[in-house]
This record gives sequence, C-alpha cells and structure tokens, in this order.
Amino acid sequence: MSILKVARLGHPVLRRTAGILPKDRIHAAEIQKLIDDMIGTMKEYDGVGLAAVQVHESQQIAVLEVADNPRYPQKPSVPLTVLINPQITPVSDEMEEDWEGCLSIPDLRGRVPRHKDIRVQAVDRSGRDLDFAASGFHARVIQHEWDHLQGNVYLDRMKDLLTLTYTLELARYWTNK
Ligand code: NI
Repeated sequence: MSILKVARLGHPVLRRTAGILPKDRIHAAEIQKLIDDMIGTMKEYDGVGLAAVQVHESQQIAVLEVADNPRYPQKPSVPLTVLINPQITPVSDEMEEDWEGCLSIPDLRGRVPRHKDIRVQAVDRSGRDLDFAASGFHARVIQHEWDHLQGNVYLDRMKDLLTLTYTLELARYWTNK
C-alpha cells in the first residue's frame, strides 16, 4: 500500500469530470491497488473521504470512512465505503448547512449547503450494485466526493465566501457546532 500525493486546488485534474470506470475493469489489479492506496491516503491525512481525481486519477471512484476522526470530532461514524460510478438523487427538498474542509484545499473550512437526504446508487469494489439512503453528515461527505468526480470543489457550493476560514481562526472565532 502506498500513500499517494494529493492534488491541490489549481491542479487541472480537480476540474475535469472523471471518466466512468467500466464494470469489467473493477477487478483489474491496478484498480484494486488504486482503491487500497486511496483508502491508505485518506487515513494518513485524516480525511473522511477521498476522490480518485484528488490522487491524479480521473476515474469515478471515491472512498469514505468516518471513525473517531480528529479533523471531524463529534461526527457520527460512517463505515468504510468504496463508491464506483456513484449517482446521487436528493429525496427531499431539505437543505442543511455545515462546515466542510478538503484535503485538496488545506487548512481552510467553509459553510456549505447540502441536501440533507439522498439516495446513492453505485458499484462497490467487488462489482456489486449498491443502493442506499444517506442523510446528514454521511450524505454531506458523499455529496462532497461526488462533486469532486464532476470537477467541482466545496467552494463552488458555498452561498458566498464570508465563512471561509482557516482552521485556527475557526477554533478561535467561530462556534463550531
Ligand atoms: Ni475534498
């Protein structure tokens, strides 16, 4: 397992739409290794999610896991999940605003509105179809990673940039819910 270099904002790979991964490619050794490396890289940097474009691979793969994460304390846990070619559908009109950060945009946080409840359809790393509901922080992480696969980052989703804050100032000046 390798720790991969994370692309930072400004790298063009973050602004391209990632390619669909053909189902017959999922079992390829290099894809399985990429997924293992993405999981290792996410854990190394205390991320709750990572999209393949963030490690310079323009393919529709994302990984997520929330478990006692120091970057996101007091958040409900989310089991390790691999999403290939994910599609998301909002299942209500309800929106929720909360802080987000991104390993490709180090040290910053901002408040981002997201759909509270979504349906997620994807394929897992063994090629099995996934179809599940997610809400709250879980839904937020998935929407954040899905955005990456479309070439978007959380800054694009902010209503304005007035809450954009360095993490040190966040702790000092903002009430962190
Ligand atoms: Ni991100």
